[in-house]
Amino acid sequence: MQTTILAIETSCDETGVAVLVREGDNVTTLAQAVASQIDVHALTGGVVPDVAAREHTKVLVPMIERVVGEAGIAMQEVNAIAATVGPGLMPALVVGVAAARTLAFKLDVPIVPVHHLEGHIYSALLGGQNGSIPANNVFPALALLVSGGHTMLVAIDALGHYRVLGTTRDDAAGEAFDKVARLLELPYPGGPQVSKLAEKGNKEAIAFPRPMLHSGDLDVSFSGLKTAVLYELRDNKEAQKEDIAASFQEAVVDTLAQKTQQALKVEQYNTLLLSGGVAANTALRERIGQVAETVGVRLHIAPLELCGDNAVMIGQAALLTYPLGRKKTWQEVDARARIPLEEYSL
Ligand code: KG4
Ligand code: ZN
Repeated sequence: MQTTILAIETSCDETGVAVLVREGDNVTTLAQAVASQIDVHALTGGVVPDVAAREHTKVLVPMIERVVGEAGIAMQEVNAIAATVGPGLMPALVVGVAAARTLAFKLDVPIVPVHHLEGHIYSALLGGQNGSIPANNVFPALALLVSGGHTMLVAIDALGHYRVLGTTRDDAAGEAFDKVARLLELPYPGGPQVSKLAEKGNKEAIAFPRPMLHSGDLDVSFSGLKTAVLYELRDNKEAQKEDIAASFQEAVVDTLAQKTQQALKVEQYNTLLLSGGVAANTALRERIGQVAETVGVRLHIAPLELCGDNAVMIGQAALLTYPLGRKKTWQEVDARARIPLEEYSL
């Protein structure tokens, strides 16, 4: 049996469309595209939700037409529409969900609603645009999910079974990178810029705090770290921006690595997954690699091209959960700015 899915992602500032096929245990991406809004949001130094929505509206329909054409299929061959229904920016989400509902109605096919973070999780699990349904021995898996909106440790007991073990009390790791970039007067989006600057700096130059390391739980907090960077810039005029960037990045990476290691000690996992926009960070990839080696757990890191937001990961999450019963009519699906991941546990 073959399932063809059209996936749509519009939760933040990238419009993503992809066509994927599942045949047996193999998931293949036939075509995909991501339209980034970076240039538009760079003008305001951050994402303005209504502006993001307008940009999605402009590009989404032509993108769907183009990607379906590139996939070499007719629209009528699509068996289901996958869409990110949340969490994300409400005006942005609504654009993708409205398109998904319209297509599902027109084509008379179901919608597979996808939680944005499930997408990130499965981008690491499948390991690329083409992958296979993971064998059962990858579970239980621990996912470290680090994006602009979320920082989370999630236990995945089986395909589609999520338990959030820890989260951020305030800023997400990517958000902290973006805010520190602004303090360092670097352009939006800040994460890649800070990490580029950090390459030239000394990560031991400034001892920034590692908040929550001894909190006794698996939560993290990054807003104090951002404030520490602000004070350093204000009080130490001699400080080199390269050193601040490197020391800040080290504090984030060290905190995430130590929390991950703590989580790996609490329960037994077969696999460790790393994904989300910040998983593109080289220092983090390397450090989590060391953690996995120390603990002796298999590591899957999302490929660079799937770390940022995209529709391939949404299609993958849909193709893994659809056969397990995830299926809605177009009337039943709605966008929501906040959705606990556990609600999407099957
Ligand atoms: O997953 P994502 O594309 O969007 C959300 O779902 O939030 O993550 C975007 C975040 C941004 O905050 C961006 O600055 C950060 O990922 N990011 C990075 C790097 N590349 C992207 N942060 C640190 N180092 C990077 N190389
Ligand atoms: Zn994301």
